[in-house]
Amino acid sequence: MAKIIISYIVNLSLVLFFVNFNLKVEALSMGYYILRCPFAEMIVRSTVNQALSDDPTLAAGLLRMHFHDCFVEGCDGSVLIDSTKENTAEKDSPANLSLRGYEIIDAAKAAVENQCPGVVSCADIITMAARDAVFFAGGPFYDMPKGRMDGRRSKIEDTIRLPAPVFNSTTLINVFSQHGFSAQEVVAFSGAHTLGVARCTSFKNRLSNFDTTHNVDPSLNSKLANTLSQACSAGDNSEAPLDPTKNSFDNAYFNKLQTGEGVLTSDQTLYTNPRTRSVVNAYAMNQALFFLDFQQAIIKMGLIDVKEGNQGEVRQDCRKIN
Ligand SMILES: *[C@@H]1O[C@H](CO)[C@@H](O)[C@H](O)[C@H]1NC(C)=O
Ligand SMILES: *[C@@H]1O[C@H](CO)[C@@H](O)[C@H](O)[C@H]1NC(C)=O
Repeated sequence: MAKIIISYIVNLSLVLFFVNFNLKVEALSMGYYILRCPFAEMIVRSTVNQALSDDPTLAAGLLRMHFHDCFVEGCDGSVLIDSTKENTAEKDSPANLSLRGYEIIDAAKAAVENQCPGVVSCADIITMAARDAVFFAGGPFYDMPKGRMDGRRSKIEDTIRLPAPVFNSTTLINVFSQHGFSAQEVVAFSGAHTLGVARCTSFKNRLSNFDTTHNVDPSLNSKLANTLSQACSAGDNSEAPLDPTKNSFDNAYFNKLQTGEGVLTSDQTLYTNPRTRSVVNAYAMNQALFFLDFQQAIIKMGLIDVKEGNQGEVRQDCRKIN
């Protein structure tokens, strides 16, 4: 009898060992946390919902954080790392000025660590939080694969890879194509500017000395030009909403591009460029189509240079490499 029990225990632990081993090498999957940390997604969602109920403007911050994370070193949570004496991290790049919501990620991480220590990566928390923010703001709900590991590198110089707001759509399309995205997907992504604000530093290029023949960008609606100039007269850090419904995820952004009311060069040139204008028009007319394309594009973005298994780690503290 004892022998049977021992052999049973040995067998069971072998089985557990292999299950564990298999889990470790498994690629990303939708149900990655179902067994490992069953409430992970629910915990992240309720943390995000609570924070956004208090401050809906943070939805834009979380979505931008996801984008910034994936475009620099892949979706690996590198954007969350704090600088140290030896290393200036991505966070301290000027491109980070509009990133907000770090405390939401910290709160969600603390809550999941409490339930299942060392299991849920910060990289996955960002992707889940951005998804939940989109839904909270009225956008589509989508599921995406999980199981990303956190990276061990975060350097300010890497942020040079982020597309800049002063880029025109041609340059923007080129940058995105290096990650395998089509022009149509660039338009869908740009729809993320349905949320949030821009700083004067990002649009003042359009307001004076625009080119040799124009002082103001001729594609800029004159009423909006006045509004933006007024904002800038209050300083480089003053803000203007990217569309009139800055906390609602909708297609108003595309309607505004049609009337020359896109705030950034990278927005308005999606409409002036004949290559992307038809996509802008389609999204302006059909919000459901925008939602569908946006979901597909953002799920694809969430897979950029993902680290799996021992290519990374599950950080204990999202702000520090283990
Ligand atoms: C980047 O974000 C962090 C966290 O909010 C902040 O402490 C830091 O000062 C920011 N860097 C810059 C250059 O603004
Ligand atoms: C877009 O920007 C690039 C780089 O600044 C420039 O070479 C190109 O002429 C611009 N395209 C248009 C259509 O303005």
